[in-house]
Amino acid sequence: MAINQNTKWPNRNTLYMGRSGSGKSQACKQNQAIPRSGARVLLWDLSHDHKAFHIDSKVTFANQVKAALASGKPFRLAFSGGDGSIDDFEWWCSVAWAALNGDHETFLIVEELSAVCSSIGKASPMAAKLLNQGRKYGMRFHGITQKPQEISKTFYDQTEIFWIGQQRGDNVKKCAKLLGLKEPEIEKLQSLEFWRLDPTLNSGAPEFVKMQYQPNNF
Ligand SMILES: Nc1ncnc2c1ncn2[C@@H]1O[C@H](COP(=O)(O)OP(=O)(O)OP(=O)(O)O)[C@@H](O)[C@H]1O
Ligand SMILES: [Mg+2]
Repeated sequence: MAINQNTKWPNRNTLYMGRSGSGKSQACKQNQAIPRSGARVLLWDLSHDHKAFHIDSKVTFANQVKAALASGKPFRLAFSGGDGSIDDFEWWCSVAWAALNGDHETFLIVEELSAVCSSIGKASPMAAKLLNQGRKYGMRFHGITQKPQEISKTFYDQTEIFWIGQQRGDNVKKCAKLLGLKEPEIEKLQSLEFWRLDPTLNSGAPEFVKMQYQPNNF
C-alpha cells in the first residue's frame, strides 16, 4: 500500500515511443530527470536493456524491494523473470504500488508497454491504479514502447512528457497529431533523434533532441 500521500508532487510521467532501434532505451537512460544515483528506481526490464540489479524470481524481487525500503537506502531493482504476461505485470505494478511513499520520488521504468496492454482502452487494474494515483505518492512513470497504436489510453491520459522517435506507417500521423507537428517533421527523424514535448519547457512546444549513443550507462 502506497503511503504518505502528498498532493504537491507534479505529474512528470514520461512516454518514449519509436520503432526498434530509434533510441528509446538510450533516451530513457540519458534522461537527466532520472538521477544516476541516489534514487529509488524499479524496472520492468525483461530484456536486460537497463543497468540495474536484475531479479528473475518474484519472491526475491518482492523481498529485495521490501529490504531496500526498510534500509532507507536508494535502490535500482529490475524484474526480468516470468513470462511477460499481463498477470505478471499486474503483480509487478502491485509491488511498485506498495513501494510508493509520498515522502520520496520513486521512478518506475517499464520496457515495452504494448506487451502488457490487453487493449487500447483502460489499462489493467493495478497499472491503472499506479497511473491514476501514483503521482500523489511520488511516482515518476517512464514507459517505453515501439507500438504507440497498441498501448492503453490510460498511459496517454496520465503522461505529461513525450519523447517521440522514428515512426513508421500510421504511427507517423498519430505522433504528429500528438505533438502538433507536421508529418514530415516526424518522418525526418533518424535513430537517436527525438521530439521531446515537455509542457514546462520551450513554452510547451516540442523540442528537437539529438543524442549520442552512450555505452555502459544506465
Ligand atoms: N555501439 C554503438 N555505437 C553507436 N551507436 C549505437 C551503438 N549501438 C547502438 N547504437 C545506436 O543506438 C540505437 C539503439 O538504441 P536503443 O537501444 O535505445 O533503441 P530502442 O529504441 O530502445 O530499440 P528497441 O525497441 O529495439 O529496444 C541503434 O539504432 C544505433 O543507432
Ligand atoms: Mg530498447
